[in-house]
Amino acid sequence: MNARPTPRQVLHWYLESGVDEAIGEVPVDRYALSAVAVPSRPSPEPRRQPPPLPSPPRPASPAPAPAADTPAASGGAAALAAAARTLDELRTALMGFEGCSLKAGARSTVFADGNPEAPVMVIGEAPGADEDAQGLPFVGASGRLLDRMLGSIGLDRQTSAYITNVVPWRPPINRKPSPAEVAVCLPFVERHIALVAPRVLLLVGGLAASHLLASKDGIMRLRGQWFDYATGLQRPVPTIATFHPAYLLRSPAEKRLAWRDLLSLRQRLDSLG
Ligand code: URA
Repeated sequence: MNARPTPRQVLHWYLESGVDEAIGEVPVDRYALSAVAVPSRPSPEPRRQPPPLPSPPRPASPAPAPAADTPAASGGAAALAAAARTLDELRTALMGFEGCSLKAGARSTVFADGNPEAPVMVIGEAPGADEDAQGLPFVGASGRLLDRMLGSIGLDRQTSAYITNVVPWRPPINRKPSPAEVAVCLPFVERHIALVAPRVLLLVGGLAASHLLASKDGIMRLRGQWFDYATGLQRPVPTIATFHPAYLLRSPAEKRLAWRDLLSLRQRLDSLG
């Protein structure tokens, strides 16, 4: 059996192990110490963390835009339209509005043509291909007939007529705008009328007539009568409806009735002085 190592051997082993410095005058029995409850060293004071910086304000996430052609989109349209105080502001609001699905398929937002100071405001349905291409209402075949109709009672779009549509974007394949599409555009055209405040309103076609007169009747019943249009206005505007020129191009026999409506309009204008 091995004899216990001599002190010299132990020192030598320490030196080999790198222990070459005595740090106490008396030896310490570490085994004996470990059996005694050693007061734990007071844990160093936790390092003071700097107070957390206030988190930067989160950018307010924009409210998701309401889906197009819904009542919520109509609400958005109404708010935008009501905020417009001039025709330019209304045009800008319309250009920025994304609540009508027709806009995505149209090239232009067709706002208006003619003289906004004119006594007569004409409102049609929606742009067709020609209007979409040129960005102006009633510039195709039905526009040429509309110009002749207005000319027959001494009106023209340069001086005495101002022309727009209920819907400012062309529906695909020239279909009729759906009720939801019309509903979402209605606040804009209502505001448009209020800002122009014409002396007389001429609604061409059943869509403009039934929506702006809030009537379930079709154009056959509505045409030729006088109504007071009052939405958003201090002074109601005398309003008459007639056939849409596109319909008259297909049914020329009805021009006789349209002519009566136009004469009635002329007389009303003259009576207003
Ligand atoms: N039909 C309309 O109702 N409006 C236009 O601008 C063109 C055709």
